[in-house]
Amino acid sequence: MSLLILGIESSCDETGVALVESSGDAVPRLVAHALHSQIEMHQAYGGVVPELASRDHIRRVLPLTEAVLTESGRSLRDVDVVAFTRGPGLAGALLVGAGVACALGASLGKPVLGVHHLEGHLLSPFLSADPPEFPFVALLVSGGHTQLMRVDSVGHYELLGETIDDAAGEAFDKSAKLLGLGYPGGPALSRLAQQGDPAAFKLPRPLLHSGDLDFSFAGLKTAVLTQAKKLGEHLEERKADLAASTQAAIVEVLVKKTLKALQETGLRRVVVAGGVGANRLLREQLDAACARQHVRVHYPELHLCTDNGAMIAMAAAMRLQAGRQQASTEYAFDVKPR
Ligand code: KG4
Ligand code: ZN
Repeated sequence: MSLLILGIESSCDETGVALVESSGDAVPRLVAHALHSQIEMHQAYGGVVPELASRDHIRRVLPLTEAVLTESGRSLRDVDVVAFTRGPGLAGALLVGAGVACALGASLGKPVLGVHHLEGHLLSPFLSADPPEFPFVALLVSGGHTQLMRVDSVGHYELLGETIDDAAGEAFDKSAKLLGLGYPGGPALSRLAQQGDPAAFKLPRPLLHSGDLDFSFAGLKTAVLTQAKKLGEHLEERKADLAASTQAAIVEVLVKKTLKALQETGLRRVVVAGGVGANRLLREQLDAACARQHVRVHYPELHLCTDNGAMIAMAAAMRLQAGRQQASTEYAFDVKPR
């Protein structure tokens, strides 16, 4: 049996809509996807303004839905299930996606399914041409989360470790803000870091030798602030060095803890997902370390690392396929911001 799933993502500052088709036991296939990023709109404020985000999702979601249907030559009537991001995320933003999904579902007489945003990220590497096989260790690194997980199959996730304070993406974003690099900080900081010396400043590697798989990044941000203050009027000329040193500290901790998770679980495969998975240094260092140990690393395609609708449609398709969840016609669009 084949199912066409429409996926809607609206948890933060990207509106994403996608169609994924699932047939039998095969890995579901991405049919079309469209994305609108609000980055430019929020840039003036140095971060995401929730109210503006919600209003923009309202403006974008139906035109994007039309775009994916047109691109794929399908109509709304062909859609079997409407999936949406149930959380975590900004409450108002989530309600837009959930409301639209439920309205579409109700008007078409088709069921809806709420997806956990992080499960979307986690399963996003299955959208690539060379999808991973279960089981694997997952490094989930987004703006709000940093987690290591053991993933045995769809829905069978064991948390191995996570951040006890800031997420890796937050460490990038907050350090970038301290350096006056604007929003979103991750890509800006890593761009500047290319011109700097990663060994220029000695920054802490929090919890590197803690013996567990937890992370902590709040102290790093403080160290960057202290260093920036110390540099004073010389900050400008040393900015690239400080950016490179910050990135090196974050990446080293992520890579070493991932290796430790592999060692502890005995697994030979890693999946990296979430916005920070787009970071070039992280990819280089993880690839090199894993190659030495004959471990395969899977990433989502670069443009699917950050938030998008394809990962939501994919997670819904895989959950349905695995019998982990059923789509519902109750249209109770309860969102879970936290
Ligand atoms: O997964 P995502 O799009 O949204 C959340 O669910 O949080 O992740 C966004 C995060 C932001 O913190 C952003 O700065 C970071 O991913 N990010 C990066 C890069 N691209 C995005 N961090 C480091 N290097 C990048 N190239
Ligand atoms: Zn995300």
